[in-house]
Amino acid sequence: MASIQNSMLSISRRKLITQSAGLIIGATFAGKLTSAFAEIDNDITPTTFTIPDSNSPIRVNFNENALGMSLKAQQAAKNSVIKANRYAKHEINELQAMIADSYQLPLDAILLTQGSSEGIRASIQSHGSPMTQLVIPTLTYNDGEEFAKTLGLKITKIPCVKNWYFDIEAMKNAVTDYKGSSIVYLVNPNNPTGTITAADLIEPWIQSKPANTLFIIDEAYAEFVNDPAFRSVTSLIQQGAENVLLLKTFSKIYAMAGMRVGFIVGHPNLIKKTAEYVAGVKLNYVAVEAAMACYNDKQFIKLSKESNDISRKIMVNILTELQLDYLPSETNFIFHKVTGSLEKYRQRMKEAHILIGRNFPPANEWCRISLGTPAEMTYIAGIMRKFHSQGWI
Ligand SMILES: Cc1ncc(COP(=O)(O)O)c(C=O)c1O
Repeated sequence: MASIQNSMLSISRRKLITQSAGLIIGATFAGKLTSAFAEIDNDITPTTFTIPDSNSPIRVNFNENALGMSLKAQQAAKNSVIKANRYAKHEINELQAMIADSYQLPLDAILLTQGSSEGIRASIQSHGSPMTQLVIPTLTYNDGEEFAKTLGLKITKIPCVKNWYFDIEAMKNAVTDYKGSSIVYLVNPNNPTGTITAADLIEPWIQSKPANTLFIIDEAYAEFVNDPAFRSVTSLIQQGAENVLLLKTFSKIYAMAGMRVGFIVGHPNLIKKTAEYVAGVKLNYVAVEAAMACYNDKQFIKLSKESNDISRKIMVNILTELQLDYLPSETNFIFHKVTGSLEKYRQRMKEAHILIGRNFPPANEWCRISLGTPAEMTYIAGIMRKFHSQGWI
């Protein structure tokens, strides 16, 4: 409790503090949630809490950002609908320039994509062949593997070590032992585990330039990270590395999952090759305008991160109270254990109008819950406490 209150002192937005303090101190169950706690900061994003029902369940199953798009992004999207009979050529160039500027890289080091899903597909497609192996850990975001399969690449899966951390040494060996070219797809922080791989394990490997190897580093959740052992591969790209592509998305910290905007950062030679496989200059006009409106919105990014930090603490507190194991989350979701059947738990949560993550084999005892707003997480904590008292978890 003390640590929650201390961390909240650093939060500047009054409404967020009011909401969270109220929730944590008093309103631990549905009936006690009042509309006074329903706002996050309506000057930035119009989020409200309503008790879930079958028509509007709490969606904590897809790692979306429950805050909703920032008001600025929403307004920009609305304003641009009228212009959407045109291609957004000029605006796309503007967004690309904004991103290039923020990364202190030239324009041709940035490639816009329709979400980072397109980035994953295009980077594998452009640099892989049936002779290429995709090296991935056993438990990670599955788009890499799925796309590689359709493209006919060999998939080399490396078992994780305890608590689903990546076995980087074994991954290195897989690359060294393979005769053809390799693509290493590393998600950092990882999904579904929510954990980071320390930069000290990744950077020297990339810098050692293993022959015929491309690193695709997916940092979809990087903005939520607190652990200083994490570092983005951005600095390697800024230093001119020619063997690494960084994948980014507007779906997470910017709360724009349905808008479908992402981008790839990398050496212009790699970007040029990848560009042949993306829609690129044909992105959605409305989405591009919304992305431009929030890309440099420090206030929204801060709110998004702080709200997530509070939601994570609410979840960590209830998991600790109920003595359920969990992995240290550096993302907007937590991977935790439940006692008893996971299927049954998911079904009961669904009956309580809470949608949680799917199964992630081979981690069959583990459950992924995304972090909603603090109000949603407080409500969920109450439901979990109730389940526990009934001996269900
Ligand atoms: C690690 C990771 N990469 C990429 C994506 C895809 O995101 P986008 O919405 O940008 O396609 C996700 C979505 O959950 C993800 O978890």
